[in-house]
Amino acid sequence: MRATAELAVTVERSACAKVILCGEHAVVYGRPAIALPLPMLRARARIEPSRHAFTIVAPDVGAVVSLWRHSRVTHNPLARAALAAFEFVGQRPPRATLTVTSDIPVGANLGSGAAVSVAIGRAIAAYFGCELSPEEASRLAYEVEKLHHGSPSGIDNTVIAYERPVWFVRGELPELLDVKIGDGLPLVIADTGIATPTRIPVGDVRAAWERDRDRIEGYFNAIASLVRLSREALERGDLAQLGHAMNANHVLLQQLGVSCPELDALCDAAQAAGALGAKMSGGGRGGNMIALARDAAHAQALREALLRAGAKRVV
Ligand code: MEV
Repeated sequence: MRATAELAVTVERSACAKVILCGEHAVVYGRPAIALPLPMLRARARIEPSRHAFTIVAPDVGAVVSLWRHSRVTHNPLARAALAAFEFVGQRPPRATLTVTSDIPVGANLGSGAAVSVAIGRAIAAYFGCELSPEEASRLAYEVEKLHHGSPSGIDNTVIAYERPVWFVRGELPELLDVKIGDGLPLVIADTGIATPTRIPVGDVRAAWERDRDRIEGYFNAIASLVRLSREALERGDLAQLGHAMNANHVLLQQLGVSCPELDALCDAAQAAGALGAKMSGGGRGGNMIALARDAAHAQALREALLRAGAKRVV
């Protein structure tokens, strides 16, 4: 894509967070997974013209990066996202400051890295007078995702760029699902407060798969069956079936070795408080778990039970 011209006016764009409803890890190996956008948590990128070389400022993480200092092979994810976006729009970095802020906790499996990349890509395109399609924003963020963990399936950048619930199979175009969160799907998301980079559990699953392929493929197949059951349940509005599938998916993730005592404790607390289902969500070993309530009032009761059980924050 070649953008028209530098507008040299301030622009701001954002991107949402995400949760994986089911199918994480197995999705890296070609099985389907379902992910949901979280529009209330967002990363934002704002670009203002300045007199200096293009500089990225991220006050939340104390980062200041001047692009002219960086070669094209920079490993800084913010610079990498910006450079990919400039290449995409066919422009050179302008004299401007890009400020990145985010409400999405880092290392919490809520897609903070992909959301920042999508927001940066959108803002740079807008600065040159064009808007990225969801597919373009997703492709751009995928390049940066490869820095965060070596072999990402692409589900995070996809659900974030489309900002719609997705049925995702690696290497295929996503199928957009019609699922309502809130009224239709009373999900509660609770954070263990443990920040774990996704590449660690993803790498451990890879090592286990290399050691004992048959056993790990068996887990992936069982997870794929639960993801199909979950989709049927979503389409029929059968929350009880969805809850059963979530519980069974959590057990398989425990067997894969990507849960941890804190995630298990929050899942147990949710079940004790009557959740229809509970599971860890995303890479694991920390980060977030999700619990399915019966309705909005029950979601509030679950929220309180999870906070009592030690959750650091509940969405
Ligand atoms: C991370 O949100 C989901 C994982 O399956 C990794 C991936 O799909 O790339 C753990």
